[in-house]
Amino acid sequence: MKKIVLFASGNGSNAENIIIHFKNSNQGTVVGVFSNNLHAKVLDRAKSQAVPTFTFTKSELNEGKVLEELQKIQPDLIVLAGFLLKFPESIIAKFPDKIINVHPALLPKYGGKGMYGRHVHQAVLENNEKETGITIHFVNEHYDEGEFIFQKAVSIENCQSADEIALKIHELEMEHFPKVIESLIE
Ligand code: GAR
Repeated sequence: MKKIVLFASGNGSNAENIIIHFKNSNQGTVVGVFSNNLHAKVLDRAKSQAVPTFTFTKSELNEGKVLEELQKIQPDLIVLAGFLLKFPESIIAKFPDKIINVHPALLPKYGGKGMYGRHVHQAVLENNEKETGITIHFVNEHYDEGEFIFQKAVSIENCQSADEIALKIHELEMEHFPKVIESLIE
């Protein structure tokens, strides 16, 4: 059984969807949810699915505490699912090709620092894009620049608001993210 660790900073709908997906899998299981936000809804979601949680500060992320925890767990895959801090190079170096992220746009468009969640959808709306989508990619030392694993586009020609775009992205993430994770751990 492959060990999957999730990192999330807020709501955690992706994290919960991944946890539930792998409850019915003989390939992998989610062994922990890590969050930098003590009040994140993702922590309640993890607890209600009986998945252990670990919270940390930004300095604990960057100064070794999180790496120490990960080395105890020895995960096969680290999944950033709505994780909003920059992932430290010290951890990336120890888990080469084992850290992935989902981004709610068709990278390289709408990526980089500050481009997360609603900010992405608002920018997409303001630029009158006809389509947007999701990108799942490996994590390297630059925000949203690691090698692409998967992209899926969706038409947003009928969308009038960032919320409507967010809903379309949410649907893509719910459908595809767990399957991409599964294909990576197979
Ligand atoms: C997701 O849409 C994810 O793609 C995005 O945050 C949302 C988290 O939702 N991630 C980023 O913007 C990273 N740059 P969730 O907490 O409900 O899973």
